[in-house]
Amino acid sequence: MSNDTVSFLVEFVKDPMTVASVTPSSPALARRVAACIPLTGDPVVVELGPGTGAFTEAIQLLLADRGRHIAIDVNARFISVLAARFGGLDAVTADAADLAGILAARGLRHADFVVSGLPWAAFRPDRQQNLLDAVVDALSPDGAFTTFAYLHSRWAAPARRLRRSLEDRFEEVVLGRTVWSNLPPALVYHCRRPRPAPQP
Ligand SMILES: C[S@@+](CC[C@H](N)C(=O)[O-])C[C@H]1O[C@@H](n2cnc3c(N)ncnc32)[C@H](O)[C@@H]1O
Repeated sequence: MSNDTVSFLVEFVKDPMTVASVTPSSPALARRVAACIPLTGDPVVVELGPGTGAFTEAIQLLLADRGRHIAIDVNARFISVLAARFGGLDAVTADAADLAGILAARGLRHADFVVSGLPWAAFRPDRQQNLLDAVVDALSPDGAFTTFAYLHSRWAAPARRLRRSLEDRFEEVVLGRTVWSNLPPALVYHCRRPRPAPQP
């Protein structure tokens, strides 16, 4: 077992509802979620719920020292390991719901790309909505959001609710092919053109 797998499992045992998975995502899933990041320019990339850094590594490879990469996780142990491992990473211990404040503190108005490792299926409906609002509000008008869900829970209520919310909040939602080599197999949602929040 790799060090990442062990520390993931340890953190899962301490807080199963927040970590919400017993193993880190595979490199194959990481490549799919990071595929939104262009190979040119200086994009601002925000990563939510990096855990032990499966997606972080794929994003860092693509960025190759360009732009900004801000990774936000509520788990301070994950964040301190990532900060030590990736020199160019801005690793922040915080709730993803504080995304606007984190960008503002860095003089940034928007993110160009938000890549999520958050466990959406583990969130209650109001929490899910609140976090999605934070993502949509933070994205630039031509920004993109990528997230994943496990295949086995695709038809469960939280996953169906997430899908509906994504379609409400983005003009385009494309479901990628199943990543069978991930444990468990996973699907990636590619979301573009955020819509403003509906007025109450
Ligand atoms: C399923 S793990 C995914 C980790 C990693 N991205 C991967 O795919 O291997 C979920 C991660 O989201 C983090 N997390 C859960 N709720 C969060 C929140 N509200 N804000 C920021 N991070 C959160 C957990 O601490 C954990 O690291």
